[in-house]
Amino acid sequence: MKASIVLLPGDGIGPEIISQGQRILKRVEEIGGHQFEIASHAMGGCAIDEFGDPLPEITLNACKESDAILLGAVGGPKWDDPNAKTRPEVGLLKIRKELNLFANLRPIKTHPCLIDASPLKKDIVEGVDILFVRELTGGIYFGPSRRGPHESGEEAGNDMVYNTGEIERVVHIAAKAAQTRSKKLTSVDKANVLEVSRLWRSVSEKVVKENYSDLDYDVVLVDAMAMHLISRPRDFDVVVTGNLFGDILTDEGSMLPGSLGLLPSASMGESGPGLFEPIHGSAPDIAGKGIANPLATILATAMMLRHSLNLNEEADLIEKAVDSVINEGHRTADIAAKGETSISTEEMATHVLNALKG
Ligand code: IPM
Ligand code: MG
Repeated sequence: MKASIVLLPGDGIGPEIISQGQRILKRVEEIGGHQFEIASHAMGGCAIDEFGDPLPEITLNACKESDAILLGAVGGPKWDDPNAKTRPEVGLLKIRKELNLFANLRPIKTHPCLIDASPLKKDIVEGVDILFVRELTGGIYFGPSRRGPHESGEEAGNDMVYNTGEIERVVHIAAKAAQTRSKKLTSVDKANVLEVSRLWRSVSEKVVKENYSDLDYDVVLVDAMAMHLISRPRDFDVVVTGNLFGDILTDEGSMLPGSLGLLPSASMGESGPGLFEPIHGSAPDIAGKGIANPLATILATAMMLRHSLNLNEEADLIEKAVDSVINEGHRTADIAAKGETSISTEEMATHVLNALKG
């Protein structure tokens, strides 16, 4: 097959890990006889430096015309000034909105060999396998915001807004995913307080009742979910929730497997290219040292092959290769136990490439 792929390396460790993703893509081309046309574009802080805009027109257009996008990470202390005209994160929110990437899939799975890297007890995190489906283009992130004078100084606010259609489409994605897994779907809201959550709950219930009667469906309040996630995470399979709750819960969930360096994420729309990225940030403290863990990016590459390019076999191969590399004991610094030697970003990716040879 032929596909056009846009790389957005971004800031910090972004370029180092994306170049490892690119090596994997090259190998997939060879293995499967595919042809990937790959172009790299600026986004985030580096794009602010070069173009004065975190998502320049040329980058956005290239993304719109592509089949899939692989993103490294954006942001860093250099662009953190609260008085700056724009921020790297603005580019991230804009690309999600412009490409209508409303469903953010964040799988969280613990690896048996890395259980000890988790800050939680082994018997709690063993066997955890959750797929978070976070709504990504609505809610409080994109609702009306205001800031104005107040007798005490100033007053500011953001509205959390969802409509029926926005809730329906993301619940459909989550429910379909649950059907391919262990058929359990949990919807998370704050319906005891928020009107927007009461709408979320009734729409979500209706979608599931009318279309997915085979699913074991329940609803959990977001504060309780924060608790259950660290006390009994194995009880959850697919979890669907709004933008802000999903942002918070997925960061909490990312601690279950121990390292952020292993977790990929996919942002999908109804049609058009998907955006794939590791969930960790730009890690400016280790940028340029060649020690970042490339596995999350490599797993994001697998998600890209599966969800945007329909190359399921190749995606499986990559995931198996990553698994075997971990089983063989290869560790970057973030997942090395005390006293274990750690290898570089490039060496880790080389091990995956070797495992891909079969
Ligand atoms: C994420 C990040 C972003 C978000 C930030 C960087 C804007 O935290 O992808 O979870 O809040 O969505
Ligand atoms: Mg976040």
